[in-house]
Amino acid sequence: MKRLLVTGASGFLGWNVCEFPQEDWEILGIYHDHENGIPDYIQSYQVDLRESDAFEQVLERTQADAVLHLAANSNPKYCEDNPSTSYSVNVGSSRAIAQVCKDLAIPMVFASSEQVYSGSKANNSEEDELSPINAYGNQKMTAEQKIMRIHPEACIARLAVMFGDHGPSAKCFMHEWLDKWEKGEEVTAFNDEIRNFLSGYSAAEGLFLLLERQATGIFNIGGKDAISRFEFAQKLAEKYGVKDAKIKSASQKDIPGLAETRPADLSMDLSKAESLGFVLRTVDEELTELTNVN
Ligand SMILES: NC(=O)c1ccc[n+]([C@@H]2O[C@H](COP(=O)([O-])OP(=O)(O)OC[C@H]3O[C@@H](n4cnc5c(N)ncnc54)[C@H](OP(=O)(O)O)[C@@H]3O)[C@@H](O)[C@H]2O)c1
Repeated sequence: MKRLLVTGASGFLGWNVCEFPQEDWEILGIYHDHENGIPDYIQSYQVDLRESDAFEQVLERTQADAVLHLAANSNPKYCEDNPSTSYSVNVGSSRAIAQVCKDLAIPMVFASSEQVYSGSKANNSEEDELSPINAYGNQKMTAEQKIMRIHPEACIARLAVMFGDHGPSAKCFMHEWLDKWEKGEEVTAFNDEIRNFLSGYSAAEGLFLLLERQATGIFNIGGKDAISRFEFAQKLAEKYGVKDAKIKSASQKDIPGLAETRPADLSMDLSKAESLGFVLRTVDEELTELTNVN
């Protein structure tokens, strides 16, 4: 069986990749602080990816056939407030991993983000010029550029915002909203932030597809519906049977300064991934599946 070394295996997406039902890859997971975030049956390694030698040692030790680089400081607010620390993880380690993969001629798939787009128009395509408006988006764009320069055969997945099940050390806004409703609290959701919401399961499926097809270049990966956070909240409450869910519809413009760092419309053209065989699912389909398994 081929071996896949996954950075960020203890994170939201990493756990979904570890748990994804597939038989082609033996998963080997890298974590930083949260060993408990990786399922017990996965061989795991503690690495601070800011130390590039440590990653190279694990790669050589595991004799991995491919690398899935998911690790990041993934919280845009944290990146805004801590630009230098987050740069070293989001850009520095990505550049170093690309160099090691290139030197050892190993395929690499990198988890980028929809936030490389500016949010000023709908249906963003892989070919569009990038102009991210926040530190996180800028770091992802810079990482993409460095990776492609060093390792042109690498593959970049521009992922939409994700929701769904996760391991013990990760978080998801969807569960935070469900917890709030359970306590009778109100959820504020923007009616002017448009996203192709995607489950962690579908994201993992997309990443395995890119690996299986030995895809190179850039692919937008998202769900079928481009909807607002407010619409997502309504669907979530309905599918989970939350009666009288308190949802406050808000506009970015209601909060001074917010729109400057939160892109409005990050909807994406997903036809390239679809042509490769990626199945687009609606939010209703994804939520139905989640409520069936839980
Ligand atoms: N979640 C989303 O909606 C979303 C949307 C688009 C793109 N993405 C991208 O998809 C990827 C996965 O996102 P996610 O939501 O799964 O992120 P996450 O839950 O925040 O997990 C981040 C992962 O990175 C690891 N990590 C952080 N700093 C590290 C370091 N110095 N050395 C080694 N590992 C380190 C963490 O390890 P420990 O926990 O063990 O410390 C954790 O496993 C990221 O690249 C993110 O930018 C996410």
